Amino acid sequence: MRELTLLQPDDWHLHLRDGPALASVVHDAAKRFARAIIMPNLTPPVTTVEAARAYRDRIFDALTASSSQPRFEPLMTLYLTDNTPAEEIRKAKASRFVHAVKLYPAGATTHSDAGVTDIAKCMPAIEAMQETGLPLLVHGEVTDPSVDVFDREAAYIEQTLRPLVQRLPELKLSMEHITTRQAVDFVSTARENVVATITAQHLLYNRNALFQGGVRPHYYCLPILKREEHRQALVQAATSGNPKFFLGTDSAPHETATKETACGCAGCYTAYAGIELYAEAFDAVVALDRLEGFASRFGPAFYGLPVNETRITLVDNAWRAPLEQPFGAGRITPLRAGEMHAWRLQT
Ligand code: NCD
Ligand code: ZN
Repeated sequence: MRELTLLQPDDWHLHLRDGPALASVVHDAAKRFARAIIMPNLTPPVTTVEAARAYRDRIFDALTASSSQPRFEPLMTLYLTDNTPAEEIRKAKASRFVHAVKLYPAGATTHSDAGVTDIAKCMPAIEAMQETGLPLLVHGEVTDPSVDVFDREAAYIEQTLRPLVQRLPELKLSMEHITTRQAVDFVSTARENVVATITAQHLLYNRNALFQGGVRPHYYCLPILKREEHRQALVQAATSGNPKFFLGTDSAPHETATKETACGCAGCYTAYAGIELYAEAFDAVVALDRLEGFASRFGPAFYGLPVNETRITLVDNAWRAPLEQPFGAGRITPLRAGEMHAWRLQT
């Protein structure tokens, strides 16, 4: 059996939800990751430092409800709106528990209705981010329904990101969950403070996974899985050793019933195998030696945080994913439900 020991990784893009749902999923992440950037797309969204503080307290409460849990630090984010005052950004920076601000173009994805309708309206807030060094995390897709869903990321880069990065040369910007060769090219050639997170599903699957013998709603997330050439570009970027690319699972749980329906929600639940899936993707291209940089070192460097001191060990001892697991009062179907995982976390 092969064994792989890593500095403990962090998840730089995680959805934990709230209430009983939060309590059902937070342990999966906390078992694997020391810290996680917590996405603010609750209903209502986390738009203020006070709301972020209260949400952080609820996460700690959910963690301590079960005493056997390891230490886990939620790194909070604010949800950017058309009206976020620059003052709230300065408060966020001063709080020391808010680590970034998330930009959802209005209507781009789950719970993004309160998002940004026009980036021009947010310039005072984004300028305050540049000034204070608080990173802007971007869901990079245009929302114009006439643009093909597979082209929305590439269009957003040209329409919004390239001009923004030029206009604010000191802004720390992370393009979240990139899915295309165009995004890899944009981030690779941009200045040093422009980075990207990559999910495990976008490293392991192309868009065929959505239609394998029928419609597969548990493989549906946004940005949607793309063609094989894009998957290969992402694998190349993730395993290149370039510190601009690092781990963000985008684990986004939705109750089974809300995905297996006429108009199913976007989001894949991957936190239950949040590091194991990446080990498989890196192993597939014989690049396990590059996993520690991607999973444990490059994210802290961008966020100005120390790397973790603890370690985890993975062994290549296959196991079968559950068909379902509890999710609040309901159930959740994880990505790859009922199928095999190659790598196992040693506890
Ligand atoms: C996310 C969610 O469900 O909150 N869904 C997704 O498909 N990734 C939102 C997001 O990150 O786009
Ligand atoms: Zn997300």
